[in-house]
Amino acid sequence: MSVASPLLDHVDPVIRLVPDSGLKQALKNSFAMEAESVAKIERFFARLPEQKWSQDLLSCVFNSWKATHLKMLAIYGLSCRLQRLADSAINGHELSLLSAAAKNAETSHEDLGLDFDGHTHADLYDSFAGTFVAEDWQLKRHRLDSASRFSKWVYRNMVVEDIQVGLFTNMFSEIYNHGEYSTALPSFNAYVDNHCDLGPKEKARALMYISAHIEDETEIAHFQVVLDSLDLYLKGTDEQLNYELAERVFRQYLKGVAPVMQELTERMSTEA
Ligand SMILES: [Fe+2]
Ligand SMILES: [Fe+2]
Repeated sequence: MSVASPLLDHVDPVIRLVPDSGLKQALKNSFAMEAESVAKIERFFARLPEQKWSQDLLSCVFNSWKATHLKMLAIYGLSCRLQRLADSAINGHELSLLSAAAKNAETSHEDLGLDFDGHTHADLYDSFAGTFVAEDWQLKRHRLDSASRFSKWVYRNMVVEDIQVGLFTNMFSEIYNHGEYSTALPSFNAYVDNHCDLGPKEKARALMYISAHIEDETEIAHFQVVLDSLDLYLKGTDEQLNYELAERVFRQYLKGVAPVMQELTERMSTEA
C-alpha cells in the first residue's frame, strides 16, 4: 500500500522528466527506500502551523533550515573544478567540460539575483526569517549540529569528492528542494494565517523566499541543467554514469536532512 506523501507528489512528475532510465530508477529507488526520512521531513511541515512557537525555537528553525539550503559557494566550487579539468583536457574535450561548468553554474543564477536587480536569495531568506524572529537567529548557537554536519557534507561532496558525486549532490538538492519548498509553502502560509498579523502584501513579501523557488519552476529548471552538466561531463571525460553511486548519494542526502527536521519536530513537542 502506498502512503500519501505531499513531498513525493511534487517530486514524481519531475522524476518522469529524466530521459536516462537508469538515473530515473535511481531517483525513484532513493525516495522509496528513504520513505521514513521523507516522512520525518513531512511531519515537521505538518506540525509547524499547529501553534505559535517561541522565539528560541523559531530561531533554531530558521538558522538550521537555512544551513540545509543555500549552497552557492559549493556550486561555484564545482564549476571551478570542471573548468580546471577543461584547462587540462586533451582530445578536444575542452568544450564539453567548459559547457559542463557553465551548466552547473546556471543553478546559481537566481540565487545571485542575476535577473532580479541583484536581489539574492540570501537576502530573500533574511527577510523571510526577519518576519518571524529577531535578528539574532543568525547566531551559530541557534544551529543544530545535524544541520552543520549536513551543510559540510554537501560542500565537501561538491568541492572535494569525485565530480560525479558533486553533480549528483547538486542535482538531488534541486529536485529535493522543489519537493520540499512545495510542501513548505502551504505550511508557512498556514502558520502566518493562524499566528501572525500580516496583510496579504506583507505575507506575500515574507514568503517570497519559498514561493520564488516554486512559481517559475526555478528548482525544476536547475535540476534539468545539472542533468545537462552531467551529460557534458561524461562526454568530456569518457566516463560512464555510476548509477549505484548516484543512488547512494541521493539516499545519503535524504538521510542527512531527515535528522535536522526530526530534531526540530521534537523541539516542538517540548513546547506543545
Ligand atoms: Fe535559491
Ligand atoms: Fe536551485
